[in-house]
Amino acid sequence: MDLLLPHHRLPLLLAILVAASSHGASSSGDDGYDASMCVRQPYTCGGVSIKYPFYSRTGALLGNSSSYCGYPGLEIQCEEGQAFLELQSGNYTISRIDYNDLTVRLVDPEVLDGRSCPRADHNVTFRNVSWLYYPSTTVDYVLFFLNCNFLSDLSRPSNSNSTACKFDVGQESTGMSFVFLEQDVPYPNTNWWWWCSDVIKVPVLKSGLLSDSRNDPTWKNGGYGSSLRDGFQLAWNQSQKLQACHQCEQSEGQCGYNQTGAFVACLCSGGRVGHPNCTTDPSGKPLAALVLVSQIAAGIAGCFASTHRTVPFFSL
Ligand SMILES: *[C@@H]1O[C@H](CO)[C@@H](O)[C@H](O)[C@H]1NC(C)=O
Ligand SMILES: *[C@@H]1O[C@H](CO)[C@@H](O)[C@H](O)[C@H]1NC(C)=O
Ligand SMILES: *[C@@H]1O[C@H](CO)[C@@H](O)[C@H](O)[C@H]1NC(C)=O
Ligand SMILES: *[C@@H]1O[C@H](CO)[C@@H](O)[C@H](O)[C@H]1NC(C)=O
Ligand SMILES: *[C@@H]1O[C@H](CO)[C@@H](O)[C@H](O)[C@H]1NC(C)=O
Ligand SMILES: *[C@@H]1O[C@H](CO)[C@@H](O)[C@H](O)[C@H]1NC(C)=O
Ligand SMILES: *[C@@H]1O[C@H](CO)[C@@H](O)[C@H](O)[C@H]1NC(C)=O
Ligand SMILES: *[C@@H]1O[C@H](CO)[C@@H](O)[C@H](O)[C@H]1NC(C)=O
Repeated sequence: MDLLLPHHRLPLLLAILVAASSHGASSSGDDGYDASMCVRQPYTCGGVSIKYPFYSRTGALLGNSSSYCGYPGLEIQCEEGQAFLELQSGNYTISRIDYNDLTVRLVDPEVLDGRSCPRADHNVTFRNVSWLYYPSTTVDYVLFFLNCNFLSDLSRPSNSNSTACKFDVGQESTGMSFVFLEQDVPYPNTNWWWWCSDVIKVPVLKSGLLSDSRNDPTWKNGGYGSSLRDGFQLAWNQSQKLQACHQCEQSEGQCGYNQTGAFVACLCSGGRVGHPNCTTDPSGKPLAALVLVSQIAAGIAGCFASTHRTVPFFSL
């Protein structure tokens, strides 16, 4: 159908169109975000490719301070050519990210200091809003029982089970220390805390190491260190992703979350917030309609520039 517009109606129509498009522009100003919060182009740090849903910057999304463009728990620090994932318990070196099965391989930098008997100083903990978890098929745990003095003969491991490793646990280090894979801990229901000055649980990759080799003194006297240096694997729980985030990603957007892990906005390219996704303009109209409006406006402008004819300037 040809759209034929008689000349005397054009100024009115133009006024309406200008009003409509300037309304759109003003609400986009209210609602923009700092586009540098989102990783739109992958970059390499420490030999790993970093992209969304990891993030490094926080900002204010719709007034929510310290929010970010990525999934909860996936904050990366790139420092001195090394990528670190920031967990609650510290920054862990990233050795690999697999974006297909959504896993990340981490190493605690404390275990890389060249000691023959490495150990971590604390447990690995995640923030409670984090989406990270240990995939049960790839995780084992090494347990350190440090400086233990058993006052009871009940539930006490044999001296031959202790490690020759001398861990630095302060001046009062008079007791025995033990290193076990979790499934090998003798008397697992014992409250080891009661007898030992520290109990530290370290995730490692499932090794398939037979219990014979774990009971071999070379394992408990330092051989376990290679497992610590190989690091551990984490996955992120995609089922935490709400439908709103899913449809945002389907429309080429990236999901913004706040400090408490709530989805706050669909972040589109060019610093624009999608309502509800990136296929719609800031005022909620489909983007295609906005393009149409500007085409019509351009057509009208062209019409004004021309002479006294009724011009079929647009076809539907
Ligand atoms: C995060 O967003 C949720 C939902 O909008 C809100 O209830 C919560 O207070 C926000 N948290 C912060 C720290 O802004
Ligand atoms: C991780 O490293 C950053 C930058 O060095 C630092 O600000 C932050 O406190 C560290 N986080 C933890 C949990 O140690
Ligand atoms: C997360 O932990 C903080 C304290 O560390 C607590 O105030 C908050 O309620 C927790 N949130 C959830 C969802 O468990
Ligand atoms: C020493 O530890 C191993 C592995 O847990 C266990 O099989 C063995 O029974 C322990 N020996 C003693 C005497 O507790
Ligand atoms: C570390 O984990 C072990 C084993 O789960 C636990 O017994 C210990 O209390 C934890 N340490 C801290 C400081 O939370
Ligand atoms: C993933 O998140 C869902 C929804 O919160 C939860 O029910 C499920 O237990 C989580 N899965 C894992 C492996 O943490
Ligand atoms: C984006 O939002 C529009 C309007 O609500 C909806 O029709 C469309 O299906 C959404 N796109 C996706 C990918 O969900
Ligand atoms: C945070 O984001 C939500 C959108 O989920 C919005 O409703 C709220 O007003 C924002 N501001 C604050 C301070 O929570």
